[in-house]
Amino acid sequence: MTTASALRLTQFAHGGGCACKIPPGELEDMVRDLVGEGSESLLVGLDAGDDAAAVRIEGDIAVLATADFFTPVVDDAYDWGRIAAANALSDVYAMGGRPVVAVNLLGWPRDTLPVELAREVLRGGLDIGREAGCPVAGGHSIDDPEPKYGMAVTGVADARRLLRNDAARAGQPISLTKPLGVGVLNNRHKATGEVFEHAIASMAALNAAASRAALDAGIEAATDVTGFGLLGHLYKMARASGVTAVVDAAAVPYLEGARESLAAGFVPGGSRRNLDWVRPSLSASVDDDELVLLADAQTSGGLLLAGEVPGAPVIGEFVPRGDAVLVVR
Ligand code: CO
Ligand code: CO
Repeated sequence: MTTASALRLTQFAHGGGCACKIPPGELEDMVRDLVGEGSESLLVGLDAGDDAAAVRIEGDIAVLATADFFTPVVDDAYDWGRIAAANALSDVYAMGGRPVVAVNLLGWPRDTLPVELAREVLRGGLDIGREAGCPVAGGHSIDDPEPKYGMAVTGVADARRLLRNDAARAGQPISLTKPLGVGVLNNRHKATGEVFEHAIASMAALNAAASRAALDAGIEAATDVTGFGLLGHLYKMARASGVTAVVDAAAVPYLEGARESLAAGFVPGGSRRNLDWVRPSLSASVDDDELVLLADAQTSGGLLLAGEVPGAPVIGEFVPRGDAVLVVR
């Protein structure tokens, strides 16, 4: 009999984490014009491709709704649960809100994976919910040939202080609150079984403090960096805001081992798709390896801010819209 510890969860996934998202262009085609009608209370909907939907319920109180789930990004069930939960909660933080309740979304291959492992996944999610001060109460599970886990999260925010995708202005610096590189490191982990503790720590870290710091700094535009990579999410932000984003490639932070892993060929398919998607709107003076790293599909990445917060590197600036929506130099 196979023991739980010998099971490599990533081998049950066809893709990896946020890298298994539906590609950005394909998703936009799918949802085009599918906008709910006549909702006066809707503050943020599908239009700008923001992180969570926001509705005004009373006075200046906005309720945020978001859901995120994906296949195993790491072999350890508990860590996968923590990462998926931190990632799901992140969309609330990326809107400037705080999570108030979350429910689990679980797909589990009952015939091939022991139920104790599912329990470990849920325990990881619960621990991160506890850390966030967000009750995790119930949810929904199905028998699924491929394991999937995540959460639907409800949050609240000040309706006047939402961190939006479409509010970046020319002249504002661009900051990033977590280093990039978990896409290539997860890809390598899946291929070789090597464990990258610093990548796990980064993915399981909440964006709560970064969100509060952004609000304290008076920042109005933010998003989190996930499956579409830095370039994909920055492109969405600059496009929605009607500005051009200029990235200083040398200022972008990476996790240790990311560059070597790219050089060794560990690149998630999602990263290349991200780069292909933004390329028509991109003007770059760096090579393709650098661009693939900048487009690396992240799982539970940091916040991308139009403005500065203590401790987060400035990686570029927004400028008036030029020929390209994205410039990398
Ligand atoms: Co997001
Ligand atoms: Co999301």
